[in-house]
Amino acid sequence: MNKILMATNNAGKLREAREILSPLGIEVVSLKELGIDCDPDENGVTFEENAGIKARAVQKEAARANGIKIAVFADDSGLCVDALGGRPGVHSARYAPDGEKCAKLLSEMEGVSESERGAKFVCSVVFVDENGEAASVSGECRGKIGYEERGTNGFGYDPVFEYGGRTLAEMSADEKNSISHRGAAMRALYRLLKERYGE
Ligand code: IMP
Repeated sequence: MNKILMATNNAGKLREAREILSPLGIEVVSLKELGIDCDPDENGVTFEENAGIKARAVQKEAARANGIKIAVFADDSGLCVDALGGRPGVHSARYAPDGEKCAKLLSEMEGVSESERGAKFVCSVVFVDENGEAASVSGECRGKIGYEERGTNGFGYDPVFEYGGRTLAEMSADEKNSISHRGAAMRALYRLLKERYGE
């Protein structure tokens, strides 16, 4: 296998995947690069289910548009807050509009004590090979929800997610990638692909 399609057009995700997977000598291509427009309904109840829905839909669309069955991987991620019974979870993107997510979460967390503020980011990655066989890996990052927004880097819930005393929005991209759920999932994908396709 010398090429793999990542089911994203997100430049940051693509850059990170390329950096982590580059030692394998496998070229990572994006949807845009293959002229694929595919945004399936992610209506699964787990991150893994949603990543699988995306990976399979994208592989099908690539076959239809380009006549090739290419290996694909897709990721799905979100924030699970202990005190909210794991919410927003798979609904993290739809929880509130961007720019309002942190404020809404902080208001739901009002009155929650320090010891109950645990949370984790989760990222599932589903890989589907050229024959349609799937495998999944995942990564987690455990931290806690702070009391105010801090930092200007990152996106989504980063300004309220604390790890080691700082929020993810107070870290550089490299620092965040070294501890993040997505970084961990990408490194797990690297190990999976190395086992299968490495020399
Ligand atoms: P997606 O899997 O990239 O679509 O992410 C789903 C949603 O989870 C995003 O819209 C964000 O709100 C949230 N999310 C996922 N990863 C992160 C992260 O690293 N930082 C902050 N929010 C995240």
